[in-house]
Amino acid sequence: KFEKIWLIFGIGSLFLFLGIIGVNAFYMGNQPPSCLVTIDPEKVDITEPFNQPGVKKIGQNHYQVTIVTQAFAFTPNTITVPKGAKVDFVATTKDVVHGFEIAGTNINMMLEPGYVSTATQVFEKTGEYLIVCNEYCGTGHHMMGAKIEVT
Ligand code: CUA
Repeated sequence: KFEKIWLIFGIGSLFLFLGIIGVNAFYMGNQPPSCLVTIDPEKVDITEPFNQPGVKKIGQNHYQVTIVTQAFAFTPNTITVPKGAKVDFVATTKDVVHGFEIAGTNINMMLEPGYVSTATQVFEKTGEYLIVCNEYCGTGHHMMGAKIEVT
C-alpha cells in the first residue's frame, strides 16, 4: 500500500519538474547556451565574422554585434546600438571559457573555445548596460567587463 503512494508521489514529482523546465524553456525564453557553429579558436582572428569584431548594421533597425573574448577582456569594449533595434550577439572566446551576461536582460551565455554563442535582444530603454564575465577564468576575472550604450 505504501509503495503505491510513494510510486504515485515519485511519478507526480517527475512530471512536476518536467513541467517547470518546460515552462521555463518555452514561456520564459531560458535556453541552454547555444553552440551553433564550431570554429578553430586559434583562427578566431581571421575567421568570419570574428576578424572584424564590432557593431554592424545588417538590416532595417537590425544590428549584429560580433564579440571576441580573451582573458580578461571583451572586444569591442564599448558597444553602441540604438534603442528599439533588434541586436544579434555573436560571440566566442580565443582562450578559456568566459561568461557573457548582460545585466538587466535575459542574456546569459557561456562562451566556449571553438564554439559560437548567439543571442538576440531588443533594448527598450536608453542607457548603459553592463556586460560581465560570469565564469571564473583566471586572476583578472573580476575585472573582465564591457558596456553597451543604448542611445
Ligand atoms: Cu572571463 Cu571570467
